[in-house]
Amino acid sequence: MSQAVQLHQYGDVDVLKVEDVAQPTPETDQVLVRVKAAGINPGEASIRKGVFKDSWPSTFPSGQGSDFAGIIEAVGEGVDDTLIGAEVIGFTHDRASQAEFVVVPQTQVTPKPASLSWDVAGGLFVAGTTAYAAVRAVDVKAGDTVAISGASGGVGTLAVQLAQLRGARVLGIASPARAEWLAAHDVELVPYGDGLKERLEAVGRIDAFIDTRGQGYVQLAVDLGIPRERINTIIDFAAAKHYGVKTEGNGVGGTTEVLSELARLVGEGQLDVPVARAYPLAQVQEAYRELERGHTLGKIVLLPGGVG
Ligand SMILES: NC(=O)c1ccc[n+]([C@@H]2O[C@H](COP(=O)([O-])OP(=O)(O)OC[C@H]3O[C@@H](n4cnc5c(N)ncnc54)[C@H](OP(=O)(O)O)[C@@H]3O)[C@@H](O)[C@H]2O)c1
Repeated sequence: MSQAVQLHQYGDVDVLKVEDVAQPTPETDQVLVRVKAAGINPGEASIRKGVFKDSWPSTFPSGQGSDFAGIIEAVGEGVDDTLIGAEVIGFTHDRASQAEFVVVPQTQVTPKPASLSWDVAGGLFVAGTTAYAAVRAVDVKAGDTVAISGASGGVGTLAVQLAQLRGARVLGIASPARAEWLAAHDVELVPYGDGLKERLEAVGRIDAFIDTRGQGYVQLAVDLGIPRERINTIIDFAAAKHYGVKTEGNGVGGTTEVLSELARLVGEGQLDVPVARAYPLAQVQEAYRELERGHTLGKIVLLPGGVG
């Protein structure tokens, strides 16, 4: 047996349980990974609450989580057994990473650069590949000015840096409390709240807009005169349909190739993944309570192997 986050119904944070489950076994072309860290994401909270129950239902009992980093413990047929012991970063599509063990196809893991800590590696997949896809979608180029809402969140902190790596001037829409982190990453803070449109207009021409927050940012970007093909939202699909803007995120960015590229950038010190807090698996409810307050700087991760 091993421990895993389990849900038996839709609901609030208190439906999240950590229970004993059968340890998964790797089948052909699969690897069994002992999970050291698993990132948590707001989309999982929406699934848990039943927001997508018609289009994307859960089957109970359900596990939870896509992101993970860990050590290959065993391999299935067709996988080179010298991989046992390898440190990897990966992802599952089975809502299953918040657990002591996860089984995935070998193609869904990539080597973890030695310089990445477990918590950073474990929080990289969803936020990183989403940020990568969003920056690519609006075709950020050297000399552009790009505005990014939710600039201090899990996706935003990576999107601002990926836009900068392409040579853009980056405006980070966030609270003044995030001024220090943004300045340290050469991002210009534009505080959200009343008067935001005027503050953005005062900056001058804005070439592209990445929305990671919803709540009217797509309309704001359109009102600022930004071309619709250079506006991308990862959350406000109704506004995207209404205004004809892009919606590229994890669905197109979530590949092993993109994950490997992000791991390389982090490993080389070109990309910083801030981890606000790492919780033991047993504190999964506390971890989501913090995430769902909506003011996390960077990522929150769970540590199924315990802290340290
Ligand atoms: N489509 C996809 O593929 C995809 C993938 C991943 C995530 N998502 C969605 O994208 C959203 C962001 O995900 P995430 O992981 O980055 O979330 P997150 O880490 O929870 O985002 C929290 C951030 O939101 C900021 N924020 C709060 N109120 C704001 C406001 N009025 N204006 C601007 N920023 C504000 C906070 O900034 P302060 O602390 O400064 O207040 C905080 O840094 C979620 O809704 C998630 O479900 C979609």
